[in-house]
Amino acid sequence: MHTGPVPLTACRNGPLAGRARVPGDKSISIRALLLGAFAVGETRIAGMLEGEDVLSTAGALRRLGAHIAQTGERQWQVRGVGVGGFAEPRGALDFGNSGTGCRLALGAVAGCPITATFDGDASLRSRPMRRVLEPLERMGARALVSADGRLPLTLAGARDPIPIVFKPPVPSAQLKSAILLAGLSAPGETVVIEAEATRDHTEKMLAYFGADVQVDRLDNGGRRITLAGQPELAPRPIVVPADPSSAAFPLVAALLVPRSEVVFPGVMMNPLRTGLLTTLGEMGAAIEPLERRNEGGEEVADLRVRAATLRGVEVPASRAPSMIDEYPVLAVAAAFAEGVTVMRGLKELRVKESDRLAATAALLRGNGVTVEVEGDDLIVQGNGRPAGGGLVATHMDHRIAMAAIVLGLGSERPVQIDDGRFIATSFPGFVELMRSLGAQLS
Ligand code: S3P
Repeated sequence: MHTGPVPLTACRNGPLAGRARVPGDKSISIRALLLGAFAVGETRIAGMLEGEDVLSTAGALRRLGAHIAQTGERQWQVRGVGVGGFAEPRGALDFGNSGTGCRLALGAVAGCPITATFDGDASLRSRPMRRVLEPLERMGARALVSADGRLPLTLAGARDPIPIVFKPPVPSAQLKSAILLAGLSAPGETVVIEAEATRDHTEKMLAYFGADVQVDRLDNGGRRITLAGQPELAPRPIVVPADPSSAAFPLVAALLVPRSEVVFPGVMMNPLRTGLLTTLGEMGAAIEPLERRNEGGEEVADLRVRAATLRGVEVPASRAPSMIDEYPVLAVAAAFAEGVTVMRGLKELRVKESDRLAATAALLRGNGVTVEVEGDDLIVQGNGRPAGGGLVATHMDHRIAMAAIVLGLGSERPVQIDDGRFIATSFPGFVELMRSLGAQLS
């Protein structure tokens, strides 16, 4: 990102209307590149998210030996090197803003007999990596990392990776996926036992590429994932569905701006990603899923969303993994609701692209909303229509930037953000899409 900050202002306008085609899912796009890079032969990807997180991951994988090319609009092709076949890169791998790209690649590299240096932007450099490195070291990798466990770091992959049984100390799909990707190169079974189920795209895609993966549901809501190591991964065509975490922003905007009606085609409805829809339903939103169908191994639906009066609710901590990226925009919805919304168990938000718990609270507070952080809970006092008028610090965090814009589309006075550039990490074309629905953004 070489240009200077790009401030944006959002203000009230007429209703939002039309069809909103949101970009491909970020989690699936990144996994498609990684598994494609470990498959032998050619993987074709349609509907790829062409956001900066995906592009920086593609850049890193090229330097590890994979051939990755864009063949058309959102159409990509990967020629892989086989499981464990990465080549030693020269110079550092730069993952930009992408925590998912970086952590999943750490796992993939940990199972290869090479040494690689991992780096990223200031936001990624502030995020914890120890949680991934500790189990990867048990598998035989070695990490050279500063005392605080942050990027840049150098990882020496294992010559003879050891399969492990791993119980993640925090619910994290990135952590689970890193261990499974390292486990691909290990002989025998790598097992991840999650206390709470997190997004399951890695295990689904591994099975689709021919790996032997077994997923057992545990009585407490958790899952045990067992992967048989050293498979040959066979390339399969991938169709990336629309990202529900990106759809969340225009979707909440359509709920808040009076008389709006917007349809979102082909949004992924994987139950481990739909916590926001459940919560908005409890708040009184009528979001109609039309034409539920299966596309590329995932359930998708067209969502019809109309403006609604919302009421405050309590969101249990157990729902957090299924909507972990949606809290900033849910907090904005809560500010427009009648009554109090309590969101519990948001500890993991502190280690996202920014300290999202603090940034979300500041975004609301600066625009006239009463909000408290109590321990790991966020409590928002809804008042029907926030005052707005604030300047929001986005802290290199795309989701804080988009949440603030949604707030500005419904609030009394305009809302300004300090920098809109990071929106392109996950949602290129966001500003244009919002304008096409009738939003006023300058
Ligand atoms: C992701 C997992 C989540 C999420 C991130 C994408 C993934 O992170 O916040 O945007 O693709 O696995 P954690 O695994 O750290 O919760």
